[in-house]
Amino acid sequence: MKIFIDTADLDEIREIASWGIVDGVTTNPTLVKKSGRSFNEIIEEIFEIVDGPISLEVISEKADDMVKEAKGLVSKVNQKYRKNVAIKVPMTPEGLKATKKLKKEGIKINVTLVFSANQALLAAKAGATFVSPFIGRLDDIGQEGMQIVEEIAEIFTNYDIETEVIVASIRHPIHVIEAARLGADIATIPPGIIRKMAKHSLTDIGIKSFLKDWEKVKK
Ligand code: E4P
Repeated sequence: MKIFIDTADLDEIREIASWGIVDGVTTNPTLVKKSGRSFNEIIEEIFEIVDGPISLEVISEKADDMVKEAKGLVSKVNQKYRKNVAIKVPMTPEGLKATKKLKKEGIKINVTLVFSANQALLAAKAGATFVSPFIGRLDDIGQEGMQIVEEIAEIFTNYDIETEVIVASIRHPIHVIEAARLGADIATIPPGIIRKMAKHSLTDIGIKSFLKDWEKVKK
């Protein structure tokens, strides 16, 4: 399973990418706001740090405006990194129209805010490169989010659909394990959760006791 980092925080992207585990980045307007920097300030650097799909979200509501905005976003990215741009469009009928048009232009599309297998199927049919089911937000309203990942995976396998599934809105490390067990192509994970995945108290205890014993035998 590929791991995307779900943040616009450059320090976190730089640090965790240095671990050699980051295959791409997803951003959204809320994540950019949280980073405390403006979109234009961070965009160039993200592409320099990570060589993989970087999702940038449009905020227009009409298909033609989404397409125009998407092209504007692509043009902001240095020519040599443009192959890595993935435009996030919302899962609406207008978003589907935009997906069809952007696909024709050879631009990668990540259809976002997907909350059902039917939405994922329509997005794939319209030409999405990626679909992003939002698991945590479904859990938040008392619906088992991971169930739609299972359904999407089954449907995409049945019809050899090439659209990749990005499990998004991940809230804790167990979501990552569940996504991987279901065979999701990608999990996009906030940096805090990636750090939790790397940690185990027995690892820390083991290091401490090895260091202590080494002090006794090193001479
Ligand atoms: C990623 O593409 C999504 O925008 C992100 O995972 C949403 O996460 P949230 O539901 O925690 O805002």
